[in-house]
Amino acid sequence: MTTILHVSSSVRSTGSISRQLSNEFVAKLKSAAAGNSVVLRDLTANPVPHLTEQMMGAYFTPAEQRSAEQIETVKLSDNLVAELMAADVVVIAAPMYNFSVSSTLKAWIDHIARAGLTFKYGANGPEGLVSGKKFYVFTSRGGVYSEGPAKVMDFHETYLRAVFGFLGVTDITFIHSEGLAMGDDAVNAALAGSRSAIDGLIAA
Ligand SMILES: Cc1cc2nc3c(=O)[nH]c(=O)nc-3n(C[C@H](O)[C@H](O)[C@H](O)COP(=O)(O)O)c2cc1C
Repeated sequence: MTTILHVSSSVRSTGSISRQLSNEFVAKLKSAAAGNSVVLRDLTANPVPHLTEQMMGAYFTPAEQRSAEQIETVKLSDNLVAELMAADVVVIAAPMYNFSVSSTLKAWIDHIARAGLTFKYGANGPEGLVSGKKFYVFTSRGGVYSEGPAKVMDFHETYLRAVFGFLGVTDITFIHSEGLAMGDDAVNAALAGSRSAIDGLIAA
């Protein structure tokens, strides 16, 4: 039995490539074994708020010292962390916006990167606590960043690898759909490539 957390972040509810491909992958993963389950965290339908001073104060107050108001304040972040930690597989749909992730996905990351819960600092420096999970990231991009002159502007895969690596994720696979603003042939080639990658991942 595998619990799949599906995090979706395109602003488009229809026509989104990252949403479409990650949906197809999650449906195949779910049907791979009886008892597999999916938790959908749609950051467009239900965006999480930007961090506030009040939230930071509550997060950094030891749990047993929190006021009633602070207990209320940490609930959303605690729930998001619990959702993440309960998952065996995490599938993230991440369109590229202005060379990086959407602000909705960044806001989610700000809530799940919690000192003492998903990472900690010790004598040897930072230690990620999000271990033993498989991450798949479905990116969608108007241009091409995996190779060529725009590669230096990829703050998308590089950022996600850095932040999830910091949190202890060692098993992460990117499925890029690129060149989506470069005409129908490029879109069809990107879709075919990503669907072939999905089939390969499911077969494995
Ligand atoms: C606000 C915004 C910013 C974007 N910035 C970039 C960008 O920096 N580089 C790029 O190649 N495409 C960019 N795009 C294009 C999207 O990455 C592309 O349309 C992608 O397919 C969106 O994902 P979706 O199909 O899942 O909605 C941007 C699109 C939007 C709406």
